[in-house]
Amino acid sequence: RVQFDLWDSDDVPVPRKELLQKVKGVDALVCVLTEKIDAELLDAAGPNLKVLSTMSVGFDHLSLEELKKSILLQLCVYVCVGIRVGYTPDVLTDSVAELTVALLLTTSRRLIEATHEAKSGGWGTWRTLWLCGYELANSTVGILGLGRIGVAIAERLKPFKVKKFIYTDVAPRPELASLIDAEYVSMDELASQSDFLTVCCALTPETKDICNKDLFSKMKNTSIFINTSRGGVVDQEDLYEALSSGQIAGAGLDVTVPEPLPTSHPLFTLNNCVILPHIASASYSTRNAMSALAANNLLLGLKGQPMIKELKL
Ligand code: GLV
Ligand code: GLV
Repeated sequence: RVQFDLWDSDDVPVPRKELLQKVKGVDALVCVLTEKIDAELLDAAGPNLKVLSTMSVGFDHLSLEELKKSILLQLCVYVCVGIRVGYTPDVLTDSVAELTVALLLTTSRRLIEATHEAKSGGWGTWRTLWLCGYELANSTVGILGLGRIGVAIAERLKPFKVKKFIYTDVAPRPELASLIDAEYVSMDELASQSDFLTVCCALTPETKDICNKDLFSKMKNTSIFINTSRGGVVDQEDLYEALSSGQIAGAGLDVTVPEPLPTSHPLFTLNNCVILPHIASASYSTRNAMSALAANNLLLGLKGQPMIKELKL
């Protein structure tokens, strides 16, 4: 028999203080990306905690270092295996790729500006260069961080007659790249050659603020920047500068720092910046699959069996 304690409001995250009290003595914890799982939380939970299951593909909200420490500590003190961590990759790949394509087209073809103009009386007459954007046909699409999601995005963009896919990563990924016929290039080449640059990497100490002034300054002033990974990979002040000065043509962001982005944030004042509230995996079928996977990871972990999707610490 499993006994649950559930934070059942979807409108506000569980207050930190309450979480720290409630985790005391639990065997397992299911979390989402709004919860920081760090030394303080692991301390508050205590030595019973054996299983952590996050309903997300990203795991930058988990302090892996602290979780690793808990393994060593528990090995020494209790001679048990330490905390195991489940997550939900793969089941959200289609949904995230689909949303990324939608955001890219919304940004490049200026759909938000266009509906606003149509509704607000700005639609004077048909004008030759009014609301012109950039098209995917004959373009070069750059992928920063090639994983399953980057491949799925490229597969969907290909029918739009993209000319060439290029990518960069810490090392070439020939198996994934061959699926989409993508060429490995340097970060500088990615910046300077991409007409559309889409960020698909995980947020780690190495990728934090990797999209900064240096990168934007090498991009074409006709290029579109898209980020559906994590806000932390982008230096938002540098992005604001690049967008407002016309260094790049537009940006579409599903992720920001912080989340929610305050409505007074300067990025919201820009017509060439489309901001979504972190909804890339938000389809009914994918959220159902993510929650089922998170629950199954949890139960398997508690039984001491291999999880369906387990992070290697
Ligand atoms: C969403 O951002 C996730 O990591 O699943
Ligand atoms: C993320 O899940 C990736 O595959 O890059």
